[in-house]
Amino acid sequence: MRHFLNPLDFTVEELDQVLDLAERIRQNPARYQEVCKGKKIATCFYEPSTRTRLSFEAAMLNLGGSVLGFSSADSSSAAKGESVADTIRIISGYADICAMRHPKEGAPLVAASKSSIPVINAGDGGHQHPTQTLTDLFTIRTLKGRLGNMTIGLCGDLKFGRTVHSLIYALSRYAGIRFVLISPEQLRIPSSVRQLGLEAKGIEYKEVERLEDVISELDILYMTRIQKERFFSEDEYLRLKDSYILDKEKLKMAGPDCLIMHPLPRVNEISTEVDDDPRAVYFKQAHFGVFARMALIMTLLELKEPEEKEGEATC
Ligand code: CP
Repeated sequence: MRHFLNPLDFTVEELDQVLDLAERIRQNPARYQEVCKGKKIATCFYEPSTRTRLSFEAAMLNLGGSVLGFSSADSSSAAKGESVADTIRIISGYADICAMRHPKEGAPLVAASKSSIPVINAGDGGHQHPTQTLTDLFTIRTLKGRLGNMTIGLCGDLKFGRTVHSLIYALSRYAGIRFVLISPEQLRIPSSVRQLGLEAKGIEYKEVERLEDVISELDILYMTRIQKERFFSEDEYLRLKDSYILDKEKLKMAGPDCLIMHPLPRVNEISTEVDDDPRAVYFKQAHFGVFARMALIMTLLELKEPEEKEGEATC
């Protein structure tokens, strides 16, 4: 039995296989509509979510399975003091696989250590968000045709932004990756990510404060929200919250093929006037997350690929 707690839990080859499966599902979703018949996913979300929880649920429903779970700590027995370790022991008897989001870093790892079903980290505090990374890799590979040989600008809250940490670890395994880290001084990437994700692997990177100075160099601009919920001081959040706002004027400086990505939700960091630009792919990215999560569920449950049917239509 395998869990998915960190993008590095899968080798590059295994990740490529998951992405290949996601692409086959995207091409022909009808072929996969019964592969999880009789299976259940528990979505145990101790923190708010729209995309991750609902795309996991859509993924399982698309595969013919069922869903159960809770969407806040308050509506579970965590509110009465139950531990994650006890909760997962119970969930193991109710479902075949569990996607867990928790405000505490490492909570899904604790759950995995006590679980008898696969546990997926659906975001743990400011630490990691590996299924967002799967979604991001699938989006980049589908729209760019490759995962290596590109310059990626990561902009915004690089300190608390868990999607950024997971994406750095995952992309640093591909050849020819260069990062431009764009953040205020106070929100630079944690030293652990810098050391383990970049320096130990000899990845080329630079840190800058002004988006305008580097936007023209980028193949991908990955915007992130300033993570209000992780700040200790309201004043500090208010000072930093509008550090970056990508608008039409700034976007004019980006290359014609630069993809604008964002894990969402956005607050102010991308002006809505950017949404209609063909380079803005963040809504498509969120939709691709369903295929990535369908592929992940099938992989962790070790489900066989259905046979191709004669005369089958593909998208
Ligand atoms: N990208 C992401 O994790 O969004 P949600 O918080 O809505 O799940």
